[in-house]
Amino acid sequence: MGELSASILAADLLNLERDIELAIKSGVTWIHLDIMDGHFVPNLTMGIPFGEAIKKRFSVKVESHMMVDNPDVLLDQYCSFSQLVTIHYEAPVQTFRVLKEIEKRGSMPGLAINPKTQLSNIEALLPYVRYVLVMTVEPGFSGQGMIEEAADKIPLLVDYRRRENLDFLIGVDGGIKRENISRIAKMGPDIIVSASAIFRGSIEENVKSLKSCMKENENGH
Ligand code: DX5
Ligand code: ZN
Repeated sequence: MGELSASILAADLLNLERDIELAIKSGVTWIHLDIMDGHFVPNLTMGIPFGEAIKKRFSVKVESHMMVDNPDVLLDQYCSFSQLVTIHYEAPVQTFRVLKEIEKRGSMPGLAINPKTQLSNIEALLPYVRYVLVMTVEPGFSGQGMIEEAADKIPLLVDYRRRENLDFLIGVDGGIKRENISRIAKMGPDIIVSASAIFRGSIEENVKSLKSCMKENENGH
């Protein structure tokens, strides 16, 4: 079964420790940090001190989702607390070079693609990534509705990976909730990211019900 990753963008920022602890206790295995710079996306969020604080306090796996124009700066710091550092194909940097820089620092290099970006654009990079993050909302905010067509890239990637004998993980991020998670899980992603469906309301109940919907698929229901 795929893993559930909690994007803390929708957590109670004044009670972040409590919310992260609850999410982990309830079965989340990744914490997803949405790093935004106010340029690549209109919103501004967290940065290095957040990641360092989380690493110091929890032993959970961390993914830094870099929605920034310059994901190639301060990589030593980002890699120091992240198992996965995911940069955007659409960012104005030399993607291949930055992916290699991430790998050199011991983190898994990930590549995120916006809903309108086609797989043909990233095909040549796939042998060099350990993770592809399919965005199912326009990046910038949590709590948006899912762009259904964007999710169609998941089964295509699963097929491509098998055909080409590659070994990257596949993630999906944006608008995933109880009503659609079982359909998405059926498409075969390794990691499903969610913010509002985890942190709005009871975290414990939310994580349990999301995970059981993911499992339904496993049992062939
Ligand atoms: C969007 C972020 C997502 C977001 C998901 O820019 O990359 O990780 O927090 O939020 P939900 O699950 O509420 O759509
Ligand atoms: Zn994200």
